[in-house]
Amino acid sequence: MKSIRKAVFPVAGMGTRFLPATKANPKEMLPVVDKPLIQYAAEEAVDAGVDTLIFVTGRNKRSIEDHFDKAYELERELEIKQKTKMLEMVRRILPSHVDCVFIRQSEALGLGHAVLCAKHIVGDEPFAVLLADDLIASHDRTCLSQMVDVYNYQHCSVLGSMEVPDSELSAYGVVGGKEVSAGLMEISEMVEKPAPGEAPSNVAVVGRYILTPRIFSILETTGRGAGGEIQLTDGISRLLSEQRVLAYNFEGKRFDCGSKLGYLEAQVELALQHEEVGEDFRAYLKSLDI
Ligand code: UTP
Repeated sequence: MKSIRKAVFPVAGMGTRFLPATKANPKEMLPVVDKPLIQYAAEEAVDAGVDTLIFVTGRNKRSIEDHFDKAYELERELEIKQKTKMLEMVRRILPSHVDCVFIRQSEALGLGHAVLCAKHIVGDEPFAVLLADDLIASHDRTCLSQMVDVYNYQHCSVLGSMEVPDSELSAYGVVGGKEVSAGLMEISEMVEKPAPGEAPSNVAVVGRYILTPRIFSILETTGRGAGGEIQLTDGISRLLSEQRVLAYNFEGKRFDCGSKLGYLEAQVELALQHEEVGEDFRAYLKSLDI
């Protein structure tokens, strides 16, 4: 059985919900406290055993490449000023055994199309997809590590999922099926953004996927769906008619950093936990008369 060594990061979206911040900058470079969203996702993938990070980029994505590249001038400056701690931090954005590959999605034709763009780099092996604007904080094992455990045991595609209240289901891809064990469902259907009362369950899919390479040939023949885009959900719906696909309710807290409110919630919670500023920030929040 092949292990999960490659992760795809689709970062070619327009990020319209975050305009004007995303006019010239990708939303994945928005920082939460002191790290850009894309770095949280890259660290999660590396922690799960991934050694090849594949970024599917679009316009305005130079800063993502620069972020993971060596920064000679900055390093020299920090060296001269003997700022050793910062120098180490800048040098250790990623461990040395990890490779980064950048692919361009020439047109933003949807998430399914972005994943398909990575086909020739991923090849014939299972791989992970991480949407960096879903920031997932966990106490013990990261979300993707938990999913890799499930994959290693079940040998099939695994989608990261969580239970959401009825009122919020229409914002998600929602799955239905039978429970295999606590928090693990064998999916029989997947409905994108269901109308009220039409969701098959309360289990919603978030931006973490482990997929078998079969998805590529399926996406090649998946036409444009909602919004004129090639939808990953449509591809997965076809995949599950051929292969077992599981939904795994991960342990951890997911922040929707593609939305303003979710992003602000992530800032507050991660700032409160932050080694350097956590205590002062807590005192500041307490001092606010709200
Ligand atoms: P979203 O649906 O969040 O779209 O994409 P978006 O453009 O990023 O943001 P809004 O809705 O306009 O604010 C989900 C993920 O798929 C990627 C995005 O970068 C994001 O990580 N994506 C989407 C692509 O890489 N290419 C596409 O053509 C579309």
